[in-house]
Amino acid sequence: MKRAIFLAPFLAGTVQALANDWGMGEANSKIERANIFRPLSTPAHEISTLAVFVLAVTTVIFVIVSGLLTYSVVRFRSRRGDDGSEPPQVYGSGPVEFAWTAVPVLIVFVLILTTARSVYTVQAARRPPDAVAVRVVGHQWWWEFQYPELGVVTANELHVPVSDPPGSTPTFLELESADVAHSFWVPRLAGKTDLIPNKTNVTWIDPQEPGVFLGQCAEFCGTQHALMLLRVVVHPRDEWDRWVSAQRKPAAGDPSVANGRRVFESTACVSCHAVRGSGAVGRFGPDLTHLMSRETLAAGAALNTPENLKAWIRDPAAIKPGALMPAMNLDARDLDDLVAYLVTLG
Ligand code: CUA
Repeated sequence: MKRAIFLAPFLAGTVQALANDWGMGEANSKIERANIFRPLSTPAHEISTLAVFVLAVTTVIFVIVSGLLTYSVVRFRSRRGDDGSEPPQVYGSGPVEFAWTAVPVLIVFVLILTTARSVYTVQAARRPPDAVAVRVVGHQWWWEFQYPELGVVTANELHVPVSDPPGSTPTFLELESADVAHSFWVPRLAGKTDLIPNKTNVTWIDPQEPGVFLGQCAEFCGTQHALMLLRVVVHPRDEWDRWVSAQRKPAAGDPSVANGRRVFESTACVSCHAVRGSGAVGRFGPDLTHLMSRETLAAGAALNTPENLKAWIRDPAAIKPGALMPAMNLDARDLDDLVAYLVTLG
């Protein structure tokens, strides 16, 4: 009972958050579901092939074992007229003992070797000089994507060029964490790689088709672990170049939203958020320089519309209970002006 009382406010918040999906259900329904059996990138291909092989081997073992078991249960069941004596006990047969030790050892050995080969293919790949480099930082509960060589920083939506033919322009990811352990997982592109505090892990993807791919943090990292979603947007080459040059530009300066900008720069917003070309250089929250170029807000918790943005700033916990962004308690006019300013950050 005590526990129920303790959990009640959290559950109420969760139920409220589930009641309204902030437009994400419809937006996500347009994207093909994450599926490890439909790989589109070399590391995911490796995993998918290995998974099918392991499933085939274990299915054969399952069919043989359950077949023999069923046969024995039916064939040797007790019957009316049995004299109740024990059947002859057979044990210590050298050839039988050898067979049921050697065959499983052999099977396990084959599985170890094929797994090691797949792991090696992914982990031993060298970064070609023209690969795109991204530093991925896991935060509670969002993703930061830095492109050090391009001077671009974004959040929750990883943009990469298409890599067709396979391996032609791969993206190499250096994964780090700002707080607790997270795990980067985009099932159609690569296996899970953990983001560990004070350690850098590396993985890579070479998506072979343009499109949008869904991912998810795959390591429990706190109350909003389930709403630590991400998207990978794979662009054709020319579209990728356009995305990069748009992201490199400083933030738009629109004089008509000067009051919103003043609100942003004179409140605590700037201690967590950066907007290139303004005084805001906070690093704790997402870089907002090109906020409106993103489809989602709060790591895939809400569709990035002016209405949702306003609801998010008014009370982040209504969209994402436990979110580390505080409610700013702005008056209605300042809130409207602030949203009007943020909407210009295209
Ligand atoms: Cu980050 Cu779970």
